[in-house]
Amino acid sequence: MSKVVVTGRVPEAALEKLRTEHDVDAWTGPGSISREELLRRVAGADAVVSLLTERIDAELLDAAGPQLKVVANVAVGYDNIDVPACTQRGIIAANTPGVLTEATADIAFGLILMATRRLGEGERLIRSGQAWKWGMFFLLGSSLQGKTLGIVGMGGIGQATARRAKAFGMEIVYQSRSEIDPAIAAELGARRVELDELLAVSDVVSLHCPYGPTTHHLIGAEQLTAMKDTAYLVNTARGPIIDEAALATALRERQIAGAGLDVFENEPTVHPGLLELENVALVPHLGSATVETRTAMAMLAADNTLAVLNGNRPPAPIN
Ligand code: GLV
Ligand code: GLV
Repeated sequence: MSKVVVTGRVPEAALEKLRTEHDVDAWTGPGSISREELLRRVAGADAVVSLLTERIDAELLDAAGPQLKVVANVAVGYDNIDVPACTQRGIIAANTPGVLTEATADIAFGLILMATRRLGEGERLIRSGQAWKWGMFFLLGSSLQGKTLGIVGMGGIGQATARRAKAFGMEIVYQSRSEIDPAIAAELGARRVELDELLAVSDVVSLHCPYGPTTHHLIGAEQLTAMKDTAYLVNTARGPIIDEAALATALRERQIAGAGLDVFENEPTVHPGLLELENVALVPHLGSATVETRTAMAMLAADNTLAVLNGNRPPAPIN
């Protein structure tokens, strides 16, 4: 029996799976675990199942001790984990790719529709109690048919978003570190371009790249200026990929038409400049938030954990 520390609430099925083989210490709230409590609990752990709200750094790994073998994030993004610090200590880090791809692409497309069709504005208007009625020029948005979607980061989620865009009659361009499967590119009619060209030609720009030093503020004042003034920006990846202050300025000054955000630079805080604006749809990091997806993520994290504790390579290693 190894000791498995779970840093927050996860679907019960995953805890049950872990408990069949190991001694599980799972934080059950209320709220999220404090740093102090977390550092105390991980002491002596062989495995840590982490949520993206917890920072897994050298201090935490050392607090756990030299027996720690695996950190299994219940997320595909792993910018909360210091992966080199894990590698140095011989600890395997793992994530949950694949299982949240479709759910996240759904939210990306939801935000594209919210932003381009002004759904949030309409909802707020009705709830405000103000008078409204159908009008020829009332709350007009922008159509998607025939427009160009620019996808930044063409991994699983980017490709799933592209498939949805194709069904909406959009053209697709993408920027990616690596070439995608030519058969998929052909099926989507997707053309690979540099970021400069993507920003210049896209009517909607959707971000699907990982966050890290090379993508910090990838979209700042200069890139927002390079976009069409009729274009929309959508982010379901990680907040700090966008310079939020620059985005607030660009939206206020109508350098771009609108935006839809599921993630924020300093979550859960949202830049006050954004909160004042009508032309941005704001949702609270819901990309993978379905019952099915969260269960699949937790099960994959459990599988990653069990594999390593049994001396095997996990299904989704990072290092
Ligand atoms: C959610 O944001 C994830 O990275 O899984
Ligand atoms: C998500 O699963 C991705 O790899 O993009």
